[in-house]
Amino acid sequence: MRAAIFQLFASHSPALCSGIRQLTRISCRFRMEGPAASQQSGETIITEGKASVLYPSANQVFYNPVQEFNRDLTCAVLTEFARMQLAEKGIDIVVPGERESKKVVVNLSDNGDDGDVPFPENAAPSSRRTVTVGESCPEGLRVLEGLAASGLRSIRFAKEVPGLQSVIANDFSSSAVELIKRNIKYNDVENLVTASYSDARLLMYNRMAKQDRFDVIDLDPYGSPAMFLDAAVQSVCDGGLLCVTCTDMAVLAGNNGETCYAKYGAMSLKSRFCHEMALRILLHALDLRSNCYQRYIVPLISISADFYIRVFVRVFTGQAKVKMSASKQTLVYNCVGCGTFHLQRMGRAIAHGNNVKHSAGCGPPVGMNCEFCRQRHQVGGPIWAEALHDKEFVQRVLSASERNPKRFGTSERIEGMLSVVTEELDIPLYYTLDNLSSTIRCSTPGLLPFRSALLHAGYKVSLSHACQNAIKTDAPPSVIWDIMRCWVSPHFFFYVCICESFKLAIH
Ligand SMILES: C[S@@+](CC[C@H](N)C(=O)[O-])C[C@H]1O[C@@H](n2cnc3c(N)ncnc32)[C@H](O)[C@@H]1O
Ligand SMILES: [Zn+2]
Repeated sequence: MRAAIFQLFASHSPALCSGIRQLTRISCRFRMEGPAASQQSGETIITEGKASVLYPSANQVFYNPVQEFNRDLTCAVLTEFARMQLAEKGIDIVVPGERESKKVVVNLSDNGDDGDVPFPENAAPSSRRTVTVGESCPEGLRVLEGLAASGLRSIRFAKEVPGLQSVIANDFSSSAVELIKRNIKYNDVENLVTASYSDARLLMYNRMAKQDRFDVIDLDPYGSPAMFLDAAVQSVCDGGLLCVTCTDMAVLAGNNGETCYAKYGAMSLKSRFCHEMALRILLHALDLRSNCYQRYIVPLISISADFYIRVFVRVFTGQAKVKMSASKQTLVYNCVGCGTFHLQRMGRAIAHGNNVKHSAGCGPPVGMNCEFCRQRHQVGGPIWAEALHDKEFVQRVLSASERNPKRFGTSERIEGMLSVVTEELDIPLYYTLDNLSSTIRCSTPGLLPFRSALLHAGYKVSLSHACQNAIKTDAPPSVIWDIMRCWVSPHFFFYVCICESFKLAIH
């Protein structure tokens, strides 16, 4: 059967084939069990992570196996977030299967600034407590899953993440809420998880008062989360965590720029860098929404995977930092001919001693026509132009996964993805080698020679987790096209070009 599927898609793209391979592998890993005690006729039990969840078999809408990676990664992120938050309160979390490792000093009061704070481990060991999975911790995280469907994600939090105080699994479909209630019982997590039947927006707007806010809000909708963002940024506590999925990739990747603008306040572009641009559009939307309420975001991890994107951001309150937000967003000028792109920040922030002067950005950074191919530019954005990830946090999640490699069904993929993320440059967007070569109709240079050419010319370079053949670099487009020109000349000249660029970079 599997062979037949691959045969069927043999003529399609490698990405599609690898997606199908992934899907078949995933569906084979799930245990679809036969009738069990509290199972009703026609129902299926699906086990994912430590949760076994009842599903009406006829309604596969409730369960999406491809999102296992999304749920695994969220459990991993939540665990590290809980570890950080509770360490401050003198509480250590116990993660099943985790090997002992050296404790890490964390800056918990961080609102984007560097600098360590005293680790509460200084507290005498006797005054420290531990908290285990499944136990409700009064000082622990208050979690809301706004769009919970079967409750699988919330139940997994309860059974896999230590350091939680409570989890609300909410949905506005009555049949979903009935299922959530049964699944809570079936998994014996009534002490931690409560089902809720409400429009997620109303629920969040009702929890805006400081004492009522959530530490973590997870939004995992069908399609766009745009309509939930305003309520979410107001009902998460200071320093709290928002976990947001978008599956409306066509909109975010430039198929309907005007729809993207209506939803996220940014124009998307059909381009090679569309997956990273999608992440940056979502971060722009989250920051802009937060700014309305004197709040701003600090991204922890931003991932593009399969057919969706997922971001984990902290939301902080602070008027001075909010003023910086204009200078954290950029417009994108993208040549429709050769794909060259230029960025232009919306604002400028210049430090004068202890003060910061804010002004409008300067531009445009390009002429009417592209300097390389004379074609016109399309303008996209504004998008988030700062870091997509907090590398220190990413490293914490990665190290925890390496210490506990059997924790999740998709641990290997988490480690692979986060390893690339830790190396990723914080420079927005990328070029792809196949696009560069197809523009000038030549063979595609290998990643290694292209990378060395940039490094030898004195520029930074990295891969991107969001696209296989991508090159992120701080080199200006003129250098990239110079290298491509050298690539099409005999290789001797390529070598000379590298040396010349290297000399130029030094002098
Ligand atoms: C993609 S499913 C959620 C999947 C779930 N998070 C998981 O990981 O298994 C989206 C759910 O959102 C619910 N939903 C859509 N709009 C909603 C709203 N305004 N308020 C609450 N729930 C909503 C739908 O009923 C559906 O069950
Ligand atoms: Zn051009």
